[in-house]
Amino acid sequence: MSYCDEDILEVIITQQQITARVAELARQIAADYQDKQLVLIGVLTGSFVFMADLMRQLEIPCEVDFVDASSYGDSTVSTGEVRITGDLNVSLTGKDVLVVEDIVDSGRTVCKLIRLLQTHQPASVSVCTLLSKTARRERTVELNYIGFEIPDCFVVGYGLDYAQRFRNLPCIAVLNEDVAVPKPRANE
Ligand code: IMP
Ligand code: MG
Repeated sequence: MSYCDEDILEVIITQQQITARVAELARQIAADYQDKQLVLIGVLTGSFVFMADLMRQLEIPCEVDFVDASSYGDSTVSTGEVRITGDLNVSLTGKDVLVVEDIVDSGRTVCKLIRLLQTHQPASVSVCTLLSKTARRERTVELNYIGFEIPDCFVVGYGLDYAQRFRNLPCIAVLNEDVAVPKPRANE
């Protein structure tokens, strides 16, 4: 039985729509960065699928690295606290950094990450996010490349999870609220 058969998910962006949009974003980024030293910085865990597809569509040289950021824990409501961990393997000094995010919600994560990356003296820092929930923004942040604007709902798939599940869906889907409510855990 697939997830969709279980009636817990409603697809809002199909695999075909994602593929087409990622190719468009890659073309735009390649044109903008063709004479620059591009470094893609993915935000784990959610962005790993988007990063893998986007970088393979990019027809210009680039370096790739990841940082780990978390703010949600296992609930669908942000804790408001952002943690960024993980040492960079790539030097950013004088290079053009493009942050690759799965989704920008309140904007807290990306703002904190931009500030952190700027301490490495890059030539520029820009942001590419697959999804943006503008309605929930709490921080002013410029998003240079946006795949899709989505309404204020909790989505999963294409790398995005709910309690570490659903990352393997090839599309973006809204999670049925009955499922999104965290279930009490029995004492072990
Ligand atoms: P922000 O700091 O509020 O912008 O949150 C960004 C992070 O929260 C994203 O990188 C995701 O990991 C997570 N997040 C926000 N909205 C969703 C969602 O609808 N589904 C899954 N994860 C989400
Ligand atoms: Mg994330």
